[in-house]
Amino acid sequence: MSLTELADHIERIHHTYLHTELPCLEKMVTKVAAAHGEKEPRLMRIKDIFLALSAELATHLMKEEQIL
Ligand SMILES: [Fe+2]
Repeated sequence: MSLTELADHIERIHHTYLHTELPCLEKMVTKVAAAHGEKEPRLMRIKDIFLALSAELATHLMKEEQIL
């Protein structure tokens, strides 16, 4: 597989997966934290960490898709 084919494969399979799943997971982690975060503060921390990870991944994917 050439580098171009590999880059296309990564974008088509792995980036598409993340573009689909990250927004769903953000909604779920936010919903769980809102519903149960008062009784279990670690859920708020998990939400914050996940949202930071998701934002970082979004930037990473965008850079790869636009620069590489
Ligand atoms: Fe990457």
